[in-house]
Amino acid sequence: MNIKNLFLRIINTSLGIIKNQDTKYPEYIKKFETRVSNYFNSKFCLTFSSGTLAARTLLVACGVKKNSKILMSKLSFPSVVTSALQIGANIEFLDFDNNLQIKNISKLKKPNADYLLITHVYGLPQNMDNILNFLENNKNIKLMEDCSHAQGAKFKNKYVGTFGVGSFMSMQGSKALSAGEGGLMLTNDENIFEKSIILSHINRKHNFSNKSLENFSKVGLLGKGRAHPLGIISANLSLNNLDKNNKDMRKKFEIIFNYMKNIENIVVPVILNFNELGGFHYGFPFFCEDENKLSEIKSKLKIIKYDWPCLDEYDEFLIGEKFNNLISDINFTKPLNNYRDERSNLYFIELYWIKKNSIKKISELLKNVN
Ligand SMILES: Cc1ncc(COP(=O)(O)O)c(C=O)c1O
Repeated sequence: MNIKNLFLRIINTSLGIIKNQDTKYPEYIKKFETRVSNYFNSKFCLTFSSGTLAARTLLVACGVKKNSKILMSKLSFPSVVTSALQIGANIEFLDFDNNLQIKNISKLKKPNADYLLITHVYGLPQNMDNILNFLENNKNIKLMEDCSHAQGAKFKNKYVGTFGVGSFMSMQGSKALSAGEGGLMLTNDENIFEKSIILSHINRKHNFSNKSLENFSKVGLLGKGRAHPLGIISANLSLNNLDKNNKDMRKKFEIIFNYMKNIENIVVPVILNFNELGGFHYGFPFFCEDENKLSEIKSKLKIIKYDWPCLDEYDEFLIGEKFNNLISDINFTKPLNNYRDERSNLYFIELYWIKKNSIKKISELLKNVN
């Protein structure tokens, strides 16, 4: 789209909002969904007001219900965890290794679970050979993917987000595909797609294959989750730039990796194929226990620390019923940041700092860290 048409679209949408006109599903939202489906090679795509609601909708549409058991990494995003708990599901948290992969998934013996929800964290795809192998041995377990940090990442030439029954991603402002706030869901399964419309897209016109769903089209079974139309204009622009931005960041990650892997007392995740990275979030991840080393790095580069709550320590965040008791009477005084694993040593060279600085500058600064 040229600049003139883009401005007209923004102005028309904004005027429509100001004048209280109907803003539900302008044609360009459906076009954007088709564009995203084509990009990822997925049959269906649905936009949402947030990644969290896309997640909750996908979970329900895939059949997650009270007492379903979901396997999730300890690095899962909190509102995804609580989305599952709200439905009444129970969670088993899985450890992760220094490569930010689910640890020893092949060794999990008969986990007695219904779902595996993987998160491709910080731009790095999970090793899908290991995951698919695990699913091959556990045919009753359905795979869902959270691609919020990995838009455009691939595993062996296939986009992450297309390996399981469905996937979702956040389009919150700091994500590679940004709507300011928003979310996306991808699936190849028409039934999951249509159920998702019924669950969270009240009054969306659709020619349902499953006519019985139509009964609920004006109910909003899970609430209302349609995306803000201005956000989708922005997301459409960031989709234009996704490949280029990913390409630039892959180069920078490779440079950083090659320096960081040789620094004493730093552990970096092993990355075998930089061309498979995509999306990116928070920054370049590494582990460090040595305070002196950290101070040295901090004096040269911008570093942030992993600081999401450690939900896996408490029954209230493992058992759906206990969680729902908690939210009906919020009274919880235990500390949430006492990690007993590598999360306490997980840091990032900050993403915006990497974006802002040239490869030359980054190399110069890293060259001086030993
Ligand atoms: C990995 C991951 N999943 C899900 C979400 C939730 O998405 P949203 O903030 O759009 O609701 C986020 C948000 O940052 C996230 O980082």
